[in-house]
Amino acid sequence: MVSSPPTSSNAQILEDALASSIKESPDQTSDSTTDKLNSRSMIAILDFGSQYSELIARRIRETQVYSEVLTYHTTTEDLLKLSPKGIILSGGPNSVYDESAPHCDPAIFELGIPILGVCYGMQLMAKQLGGSVERADRGEYGKAELQIDDPTDLLTNVDTGVTMWMSHGDSVIDLPEGFEILAHTANTPCAAIADHARKLYGVQFHPEVVHSAGGMAMIRNFVYHICGCEPSWTTDAFIENSIREIRAQVGEKSVLLALSGGVDSSTLAFLLHRAIGDQLTCMFIDQGFMRKLEPERLVKLFEEQFHIHVEYVNARDRFLKQVEGITEPEEKRKLIGYEFIKVFEEESQRLGPFDFLAQGTLYPDVIESADTNADPVTGKRVAVKIKSHHNVGGLPDNLRFTLVEPLRKLFKDEVRKVGTALGLPEEIVKRQPFPGPGLAIRIIGEITSDRLNTLRDADLIVRQEINRSGQYNKLWQAFAVLLPTVRSVGVMGDKRTYSHPVVLRLVTSEDGMTADWARVPYELLETISNRIVNEVEGINRVVLDITSKPPGTIEWE
Ligand code: XMP
Repeated sequence: MVSSPPTSSNAQILEDALASSIKESPDQTSDSTTDKLNSRSMIAILDFGSQYSELIARRIRETQVYSEVLTYHTTTEDLLKLSPKGIILSGGPNSVYDESAPHCDPAIFELGIPILGVCYGMQLMAKQLGGSVERADRGEYGKAELQIDDPTDLLTNVDTGVTMWMSHGDSVIDLPEGFEILAHTANTPCAAIADHARKLYGVQFHPEVVHSAGGMAMIRNFVYHICGCEPSWTTDAFIENSIREIRAQVGEKSVLLALSGGVDSSTLAFLLHRAIGDQLTCMFIDQGFMRKLEPERLVKLFEEQFHIHVEYVNARDRFLKQVEGITEPEEKRKLIGYEFIKVFEEESQRLGPFDFLAQGTLYPDVIESADTNADPVTGKRVAVKIKSHHNVGGLPDNLRFTLVEPLRKLFKDEVRKVGTALGLPEEIVKRQPFPGPGLAIRIIGEITSDRLNTLRDADLIVRQEINRSGQYNKLWQAFAVLLPTVRSVGVMGDKRTYSHPVVLRLVTSEDGMTADWARVPYELLETISNRIVNEVEGINRVVLDITSKPPGTIEWE
């Protein structure tokens, strides 16, 4: 099963093509020399089910202050354990007068910690403190001009007339005692309110969304001027802290990491290697479903450029045998998932024993947010299952390792910054997502060695041309899908062809949850189509998928 890493002179060709064509973009890594490790500067967000709660956390972190999303029913006692310098009450889908409307512990208003209520959060605060909220004559959805009545503290440096984004049907009508109006809009008299003495604030608009022009200035005012936070959440501070924490957790013991080559597991490998050196073992299981030359490229990069040893496990035949004759997508996914766990267990025993398993769990996976789909007891989100996801983080809970999860506080964009600061190259940091089961879910119908090779060749052309055209960083994903059984007639030279089609799937997306088909230049489509039909044996037609998600999904299986 185990063999030495594959080598290929073609790897160099691919390496050059990728490296030269992935466009530079401005480095957003923070390199503040005033980095401090004051982890106490944090803002807690109580989530009342808003789709924007995570976004508020990200915006606050952009100001270099740490922020966490907690469920609205977090007790005051638990909240105080985090020593927040400020609290934000998020928006939410309910009306404060709904019978099932979520409320927070009223004791939080007595803590003396500054609080900012956003939309539903502001209405809730007004109601809980004795004001009144009513269904407005006219709701306000979309952009609104904010007229500022009191430009002190919260609205300092926010211009009057600035656009803020609104989405509400209810409005605060009577203010609680001690509150005054800071700003209004044409339809909303109480668009921003404050009790300056108690440091309680409310805004009816959403400062966190990109359409709110003065939103970041307002967030900064809250975080720095009102809450008195320190700029302690920086990439460098995170790395320093994590290294210290990893060393404290692991001591002299050994850690196993399943490397996939994606940005999360690669960043994790760099961080752990910096913290504990050779106590880390990186294992790469080659299922045989990776893109052309990618296993070679990955092993070469880690071994030769990063000087991090990778235990390469060639399990290609095993996986192919598992999926032989299987055409049903869920069955394919499950079989690949089970096989991955089996190989992982066998190989970890062979290479081990290991005390710890490193996992690239990220913050969105651990947030316990209020959600209409949430489990009422745990608060955890319960997603409706569309596809069985499988990736290197998808190992069962009952493995006998203790977990090391240094990225569990990070959003994806923060992982990229950490990866860049640790020296990961752009080709990994900016790599488009690639699903755990790989090409297996891009071969519709039966997976055979020949069909894998055909798809690999077509897929390589897509990647090369997308890179060459400068589109790589604009697209969420760009790939080819191989269709089964369908054959069509064509003509090449003077000869009739009767071969298979591939589908081009090029999508834009923010997070993979929704997506749109990408409007790329026709010339690019033409080049890809010409090259695939001319260069890939067995393909005589290229079609373009113009389905958004929803109703489609990004992958075909
Ligand atoms: P769908 O097809 O559900 O995909 O629209 C959304 C995003 O998830 C990726 N994807 C996966 N990632 N393991 C992964 O790590 C998987 O099993 C998996 N399936 C889909 C997909 O590529 C897209 O970016």
